[in-house]
Amino acid sequence: MEKTWFLYLTAVSLAHCFLACLAMNGSNSTTDQSALLAFKSYITFDHPHHILATNWSSATSVCHWIGVFCSKRHYRVVALNLPNMGIGGTIPPHIGNLSFLSYFNITSNTFHGHLPSELA
Ligand SMILES: *[C@@H]1O[C@H](CO)[C@@H](O)[C@H](O)[C@H]1NC(C)=O
Ligand SMILES: *[C@@H]1O[C@H](CO)[C@@H](O)[C@H](O)[C@H]1NC(C)=O
Ligand SMILES: *[C@@H]1O[C@H](CO)[C@@H](O)[C@H](O)[C@H]1NC(C)=O
Ligand SMILES: *[C@@H]1O[C@H](CO)[C@@H](O)[C@H](O)[C@H]1NC(C)=O
Ligand SMILES: *[C@@H]1O[C@H](CO)[C@@H](O)[C@H](O)[C@H]1NC(C)=O
Repeated sequence: MEKTWFLYLTAVSLAHCFLACLAMNGSNSTTDQSALLAFKSYITFDHPHHILATNWSSATSVCHWIGVFCSKRHYRVVALNLPNMGIGGTIPPHIGNLSFLSYFNITSNTFHGHLPSELA
């Protein structure tokens, strides 16, 4: 019985690590920052001095950036909520480096082109 439990728990943690480690792919919060800075460099702003242009600064953690939400434990980007922000441009493939991104809302802006396959 105990042995069964041990094997079961080992299998569960291996499966968990397999998925988590696969998603991590050696990336960290620095990867998330470079991905978002790349995204920012492709953004066109409807107004000069747009708040996002100064707010998305490498001087602060991405977790404090407007519209960016991080996981509590590992400070990885899990959501980008940027609807109706007066921004546009194209979405670069770098966004696919956000390994933990599960919510991406850029509705009511002027983005064009297609979503990069890396996002899948
Ligand atoms: C993230 O990983 C890179 C390269 O693997 C490393 O140089 C960097 O120090 C790491 N950053 C953090 C915040 O762990
Ligand atoms: C960005 O905006 C957030 C939320 O309003 C704020 O807490 C943060 O201090 C701002 N950061 C910068 C660098 O302006
Ligand atoms: C992020 O993605 C781009 C394009 O998909 C790639 O060229 C780059 O090496 C990646 N950067 C990191 C830090 O993983
Ligand atoms: C993850 O691994 C794949 C395949 O080796 C690679 O193409 C991709 O750039 C890696 N992503 C990151 C964020 O390092
Ligand atoms: C995206 O954001 C808009 C505005 O807040 C909201 O109405 C819409 O339901 C959101 N879409 C999704 C898929 O969450």
